Amino acid sequence: KQAKITVIGSVNMDLVTITKKRPNQGETVLGESFQTIPGGKGANQAVAAARLGADVALIGRVGDDSFGQKLKTHLQSEGVRISEEATVIGKSTGIAAITISEQNNSIIVVPGANGDLTKEFVESHEHRISTSDLIVVQLEIPLETVIFAIELASKHHVPVILNPAPVQPLTKSVLEKVTYLTPNEHEVKELNIEGFEQKVIITQGNKGVIYYENGIEQVVPSFSVDVIDTTGAGDAFNAALAVSLAEGKELKDALRYGCAVGALAVTKLGAQSGMPTKEDIEHFLKAR
Ligand code: RIB
Repeated sequence: KQAKITVIGSVNMDLVTITKKRPNQGETVLGESFQTIPGGKGANQAVAAARLGADVALIGRVGDDSFGQKLKTHLQSEGVRISEEATVIGKSTGIAAITISEQNNSIIVVPGANGDLTKEFVESHEHRISTSDLIVVQLEIPLETVIFAIELASKHHVPVILNPAPVQPLTKSVLEKVTYLTPNEHEVKELNIEGFEQKVIITQGNKGVIYYENGIEQVVPSFSVDVIDTTGAGDAFNAALAVSLAEGKELKDALRYGCAVGALAVTKLGAQSGMPTKEDIEHFLKAR
């Protein structure tokens, strides 16, 4: 059965600079290359889920600038449904200034129109949410909107994956309503998950994924690949988990699938440009 997924989250244009050396304060260096690549955690997860064969809608917002127009057209070309009302007049589209160097990667996000993803805007999509197999949210949009979306889904008994990135404290009442919480190994330290371990799935990059079965910690190993760019790896994992669970797979199998999708995503540059298709994954898993 085709999974019906609704992602509620951010849409950014990623401004990606690759440099050998990072500038010190007051210093200018010459970089290697620059590219604009579609990003934003919400849009990344939506595109990844669509490439894995799901029917995907993204509830998100862009500005009335050229990035906004480009990103909307791009999402549609990926088969992601996005409402005509997504454009916010007078606002700039969210951007992420990403610097990739040998030492490390760093990201500055300027939310722009993502800040206009209001409760009311989410509520206007209630029908889509109530008829979805699963919804996925992250924390790159206003927290009150995230909480509202989780409550709305819970009212309609629709399961929710909350990817708490970038991390911020969450109340017990939010944790109670989510089906799965997917922090990475750093984010989990900022959250009080006591009593909710059975819902928590911790991504740890090349160290695999931790989950709890009857209170006992289990590890799903990662796949070893040549890493080009880790941007969007978590988004790839979350999307794959969502699609797999919505298709009715067991958690353990869904996590293995998530690890495979995350692994393939890091072998290419860029968040959305690096998302694998269903066929890529079938091919990859066959060779293991
Ligand atoms: O998760 C990766 C994403 O985080 C990037 O695409 C960037 O837009 C930031 O939001």
